[in-house]
Amino acid sequence: MNRIAILTSGGDAPGMNAALRAAVRTGIDQGWEVFGVQHGYQGLISGNFIPLGHRDVGGIIQRGGTILGSARCPEMKTEEGQTEALRQLRERSVDALIVIGGNGSQQGAYALSQLGFSVAGIASTIDNDLYGSEITIGVDTALNIALEAIDRLKVTASSHQRAFLVETMGRHCGYIALMTGIAGGAEAIVIPEIDTDPEVIAEDIRQAYQRGKPHAIVVVAEGAKYNANGLIAYFQAHRERLGFDLRATTLGHVQRGGQPGVFDRMLATRLGASAVEFLARGDQSFLVGLLGGQITATPLSEVVTNEKPLDVSLLDLARVLAQ
Ligand code: ADP
Ligand code: F6P
Repeated sequence: MNRIAILTSGGDAPGMNAALRAAVRTGIDQGWEVFGVQHGYQGLISGNFIPLGHRDVGGIIQRGGTILGSARCPEMKTEEGQTEALRQLRERSVDALIVIGGNGSQQGAYALSQLGFSVAGIASTIDNDLYGSEITIGVDTALNIALEAIDRLKVTASSHQRAFLVETMGRHCGYIALMTGIAGGAEAIVIPEIDTDPEVIAEDIRQAYQRGKPHAIVVVAEGAKYNANGLIAYFQAHRERLGFDLRATTLGHVQRGGQPGVFDRMLATRLGASAVEFLARGDQSFLVGLLGGQITATPLSEVVTNEKPLDVSLLDLARVLAQ
């Protein structure tokens, strides 16, 4: 192994830069030449490579986002796109690629490995929906941002005896809503994994007031059947019968743009360094993640064919704790 390339892909996540820094510096320590690919698979297909040295990744461990840039690149899903990506790598005599990203990005990584190229994935997405890592880079920071928002909404909700609905990100996964709902003491949590009748939410809110609570907070995942838009439309349509208003706050991309906390910096640093270590020992098609407190390499073939289950039993606990 003489030369590796690294890219960041899909939704950015706080800690991507820390993973890049660790992979670049440990790669150089192995005696390899290291290249960055700008703007994810888009940059790979169009040959957007830059050499990276120690100083090029200085001062980035504390920065959110990704200094390489990221992109959604539909072309990478096609055979032509993948063939061109491979050609670009081979033209520069790159021996292995490190892909820092989430579910979709690891599908792209797997496609390249199926064409015979060595690829290491690094588990990175705020959604925490990636098989092969109990927790992914960016989750902890995103959770803390969402939680702070929920805490603040609770303050104003209490002052006005109001019901608030907070929508979190997560795509099809309810992890962020479930964790922040429990940690924020929400009166109700709505996630895509479990169908929830809006009448049940209305009842949860009503009971919270009846028990003497000065507020009601509902945390809903964007991917739920009844997300913020759906619930607001339902509550407006039944406003008179239900007897209260629900105000909505959609947290959106603020959850993604934060400065990585210590957990994400450490996780990203360990995963970045381990990706290099596993490539150096000859691994070829794997995702570096954290399982049972250990850094592990899971075959990409397993990563792309399995779904990470969410512990939905925590919803029952949340209901008890909301009493
Ligand atoms: P994330 O990696 O955060 O889940 P996306 O799902 O948007 O984000 O995926 C990022 C990129 O990965 C896509 O824009 C595309 O370039 C590539 N990708 C996604 N799915 C596939 C696939 N099935 N095959 C090849 N490449 C894919
Ligand atoms: O995958 C990360 C994520 O932030 C999801 O939670 C969300 O559904 C999606 O990306 C938003 O994508 P975009 O930034 O392209 O709007």
